Amino acid sequence: MSDDTAKFIRAEIAGLRPYRSPHYEWRVKLDLNESPFDVPSEVKREIWERVEKLQWQRYHDEFERPLIERLGAYEHHDPDGVLIGNGSNELIFHSLLAVVRHGDTVVIPAPTFSLYRQNVTVLGATAETVMLREGDFSLDTDALLKKAGELDARAIVLCSPNNPTANLLANDDVERVCRQFDGLVVVDEAYAQFADNTAFGLLASCPNLVILRTFSKAFGLAGLRFGYLLANPALARQIGKVQLPHHVGFFTQLAATALLENASVMERRVASLVAEREKLIERLAGIEGVSPLPSQSNFILIESTAIEAPLLFERLLEQGVLIRNVSNYPGLSRYLRITVGNAGENDELIGALVEVLG
Ligand SMILES: Cc1ncc(COP(=O)(O)O)c(C=O)c1O
Repeated sequence: MSDDTAKFIRAEIAGLRPYRSPHYEWRVKLDLNESPFDVPSEVKREIWERVEKLQWQRYHDEFERPLIERLGAYEHHDPDGVLIGNGSNELIFHSLLAVVRHGDTVVIPAPTFSLYRQNVTVLGATAETVMLREGDFSLDTDALLKKAGELDARAIVLCSPNNPTANLLANDDVERVCRQFDGLVVVDEAYAQFADNTAFGLLASCPNLVILRTFSKAFGLAGLRFGYLLANPALARQIGKVQLPHHVGFFTQLAATALLENASVMERRVASLVAEREKLIERLAGIEGVSPLPSQSNFILIESTAIEAPLLFERLLEQGVLIRNVSNYPGLSRYLRITVGNAGENDELIGALVEVLG
């Protein structure tokens, strides 16, 4: 940055590194927890037919309310407690923007999704962490609540299933956090469809709880950016005030509508990915040099037990298999994260691991 720019950019922004995924050459892509399944061609055509008829020079607000009502019906939740966004990442930011002031503290577990800290820093606040328990990465609720109390925290952000550890946080723990902490509690459920449980049932009795969902994972719509927020209507109304006019484009809204109309396709695909996940965990457990953890998501955390984790990452990449190096996350120096792919991709991964470690 030139000195001239440094004069007016906020210090906490100047100190941030831009959030970008590094670029790699790959043959098999298992790094960003995307779906291996593209949107079916007939659904793409359906979306295109709707979009083509519209006047693109106009703002289009007419699709938002029907989409929100459809989401409410799909989730069995009051539509007034639903907000939409350009991916759930935007809704994490909007939730915090409505609540967190410059100089405030937000408590997050570690290791978790790195974007939470970035969002908190952008707001001029501080992210303080509480380590998940070694071994099973469960939440130390007492430690979390104690820290939040001592620091007079404004918000707590939880991720369940947690990225990158793939475990579900216990509902009793999430419930205790919501009841005993009087600030905002955000539960990012980007991977909820792959899990056995969700915090959804707590919404009716926890007015400070926000649950975030996305179409980027189970629905396979990462490139079009669509997510939604579920909360008590009074809280959703307040958070909605920070959203910019027309922020979700009509193309994305119509695509999300079409995917919801075809939700059974997504549900079948999730079932097949969960079956693939369990098969992959079993196969990984049979390879000397890696040790997979249980997963409630569409990715698996593995411990690299024979060679350094970054070296295993590099060696797999030489074989054309891109996974995610998470060894720089707190407490994860020996770990890597693998997205569950389709059967062919998972075969390629196993073949590459055997080649590298065999
Ligand atoms: C925990 C978590 N939340 C949110 C997202 C991204 O969501 P979106 O694409 O809806 O912004 C990711 C993507 O990797 C994630 O891991």
